[in-house]
Amino acid sequence: MGKSYNIAVIPGDGTGPEVVREARKVLSAAALKFGFGISYHEFDFGGDRYLRTGEILPDSAVGELRKYDSILLGAIGHPDVRPGILEKGILLRLRFELDQYINLRPVKLYPGVTTPLKNKGPEDIDYVVVRENTGDVYTGSGGVIMKGTPDEVAIQNMVYTRFQVDRCLRYAFEYARKRNRKKILALCGKTNVLTYVFDLWERAFHEIGASEYPDIKREYYHVDATCMWMVKNPEWFDVIVTGNMFGDIITDLGAITQGGMGIAAGGNINPEGVSMFEPIGGSAPKYTGKNVINPLAAICSGGMMLEHLGEDKAAVAIEKAVMDITANKIRDLSAGKMGYGTAEVGDLVAERV
Ligand code: IPM
Ligand code: MN
Repeated sequence: MGKSYNIAVIPGDGTGPEVVREARKVLSAAALKFGFGISYHEFDFGGDRYLRTGEILPDSAVGELRKYDSILLGAIGHPDVRPGILEKGILLRLRFELDQYINLRPVKLYPGVTTPLKNKGPEDIDYVVVRENTGDVYTGSGGVIMKGTPDEVAIQNMVYTRFQVDRCLRYAFEYARKRNRKKILALCGKTNVLTYVFDLWERAFHEIGASEYPDIKREYYHVDATCMWMVKNPEWFDVIVTGNMFGDIITDLGAITQGGMGIAAGGNINPEGVSMFEPIGGSAPKYTGKNVINPLAAICSGGMMLEHLGEDKAAVAIEKAVMDITANKIRDLSAGKMGYGTAEVGDLVAERV
């Protein structure tokens, strides 16, 4: 008898619950096939609960979530709640308090999927972004004075410690080594303007790389140039490591090159603690409850979760099943254009697993 995993599920807002349902379907099929157990415990954190009770995240939540093997999250963001409240109060708080210091976002074009990049195919678009997930302008350092007056001053600081940078870089170097493809780690920064923060990143990058990872080739790109090459020559990339804000931006660009939010998966990883897997796309309120949203991103996030838990075979089976579907069944990955409903797509993947 294999292992059994306790998974905390936060379906969240909008289409989150619909896509999470399909991810669970596929994960359970994989568990059955590969001989491990999986049990789920749902938490109702999100906009509806906030509007009903005024509570964003109960104080006990983080301690409670720490007890699980992993967390699967649908989406956070509600049209009736001012932007920032739920995102900061739930998503970012969990990332910070659970110290999920890596946001791992693969950019991979699956067979059959249309990319807006001309003359590029699955062999060209296959790399991983390692986004630092705890520092940068996300820390909330800064403030506002004289608000509402013509003299208003707003400050939001980009903050990084050497400790945060080192642990992120080591993860990225290890990842490039384990991935064993081109063995190139590209640092994406802005050393020509952010001469404190990215000087720190660049020095740490070369120090750690030279002394601990001589087998990994190091490259550096400014973030603006990174965007350009992600469009023009995505085949150059293997693993990209970057700060929190740049990572947020370039992974949306990456996502659209792999077919859009319907397929883009990610994981908030604490290598020594509890990790949380989530599709990159938001809560898509206008599609809520219509059975049209694409669940593949959530399903692929579930696959990443299994890989993280050490169920490599099951993770590979999920990815293969998804590839079979993109190659043979679904021409357009966008919501409402798949030719199948959300639940049917889940069925198709589960059957193949
Ligand atoms: C993401 C999202 C979040 C982020 C928002 C919702 C806070 O855009 O996961 O990429 O900026 O990290
Ligand atoms: Mn984002």
